[in-house]
Amino acid sequence: MFRALAVASVALGPRSAGRARTMASHQLLVPPPEALRKPLSVPNRLLLGPGPSNLTPRVMAAGGLQMIGHTHKEMFQIMDDIKQGIQYVFQTKNPLTLAISGSGHSALEAALFNVLEPGDSFLVGANGIWGLRAADIGERIGAHVHTMVKGPGGHYTLQEVEEGLVQHKPALLFLTHGESSSGVLQPLNGYGELCHRYKCLLLVDSVASLGGAPIYMDQQGIDILYSGSQKVLNAPPGTSLISFSDKARNKIYARKTRPCSFYLDVKCLANLWGCEDKPRIYHHTTPIVSLYSLRESLATMAEQGLESSWRQHREAAAYLHGRLQALGLQLFVKDPAVRLPTITTVAMPAGYNGKDIVSYIMDHFDIEIAGGLGPSAGKVLRIGLLGCNATWENVDRVIEALKEALQRCPRNKL
Ligand SMILES: *Cc1c(COP(=O)(O)O)cnc(C)c1O
Ligand SMILES: *[C@@H]1O[C@H](CO)[C@@H](O)[C@H](O)[C@H]1NC(C)=O
Repeated sequence: MFRALAVASVALGPRSAGRARTMASHQLLVPPPEALRKPLSVPNRLLLGPGPSNLTPRVMAAGGLQMIGHTHKEMFQIMDDIKQGIQYVFQTKNPLTLAISGSGHSALEAALFNVLEPGDSFLVGANGIWGLRAADIGERIGAHVHTMVKGPGGHYTLQEVEEGLVQHKPALLFLTHGESSSGVLQPLNGYGELCHRYKCLLLVDSVASLGGAPIYMDQQGIDILYSGSQKVLNAPPGTSLISFSDKARNKIYARKTRPCSFYLDVKCLANLWGCEDKPRIYHHTTPIVSLYSLRESLATMAEQGLESSWRQHREAAAYLHGRLQALGLQLFVKDPAVRLPTITTVAMPAGYNGKDIVSYIMDHFDIEIAGGLGPSAGKVLRIGLLGCNATWENVDRVIEALKEALQRCPRNKL
């Protein structure tokens, strides 16, 4: 490398030699890293944690396709396909429906940055980590954040929500449909209607539940719904899905202040995604290859059909729950009606360190499961059955692994 530079300075004429000399006076301080000389190595692992999930062969094939430009007509067609796919999986007719160039968090930020203005009252259901994150982002915006904190495992009744609406008169309520840190499925029937009676918009996180448990955006009166690509959809992380009702759209378009993020400004994104009848103009380069993959994962879901996917997850989860209980383990969420089918939380078996169990299963079976997160840390083990891997065969595999881990991992005498 260094020799080659010196030779070049001799071979070039006097003018470029001067430039080459200056270049040579700045020698490379950082050599090419040894690590990058080795071929890329990625293990083939069964991902049964809370996400990401394994990719289907169809999604992987999409990820290996050649680049096109982000403004080519074929790309606009792919984006239109994605919009229709999102409208299907969300069960919405909202024109303001698009994919965000970023993981689930960026969809949450897109929702909050655009819908909330400084000083708005923001009511948050915080029964796990996601509500705490929403509250954190709300505070950064300068909203008046009111958290309804509950221990992990809890959910919100209509009555509790109504009390919050009466007390805090929020412009926006945040609820998590699939609380993946605690394993709770938040009921959603009636919540939208209730919010609207109090002039409040309803924002729902369905990152962990979409495709695995029923959700009907329009019929349930959800104003802003978002989800991610790397859970039930079996696509790579890095894109997320979002849709805004007319009510939410009106609040955004009536803002007095501009959203603090340019990248996530929904007005710009609406144009980029062809949600309005105007020519699309450059805003940012979309993650083209990730969008191919997202399209294919939505196409897979459309082919299978939502109802069939919901049934698959419900049945696989019921089988998992039965086998866990047969091992003598306790499900963390007591009420079967609010157990999240996609991600099951197991109460940490007494005397064990969750990290030992998770590592044992990784090291001996090449299967990923997870411990708790945020408020559920140390309290649970989490097993995800997401999309194509929500099968009885995988339940058998993870149960076998768990059984052996419980025999072999150290256990403190109680
Ligand atoms: C995974 C998850 C997220 C976060 O998504 P990222 O893609 O990691 O940003 C948000 N909400 C829920 C419920 C999740 O399970
Ligand atoms: C998990 O899903 C991936 C993608 O569909 C598949 O290739 C793999 O075989 C599945 N694993 C098992 C054990 O079912």
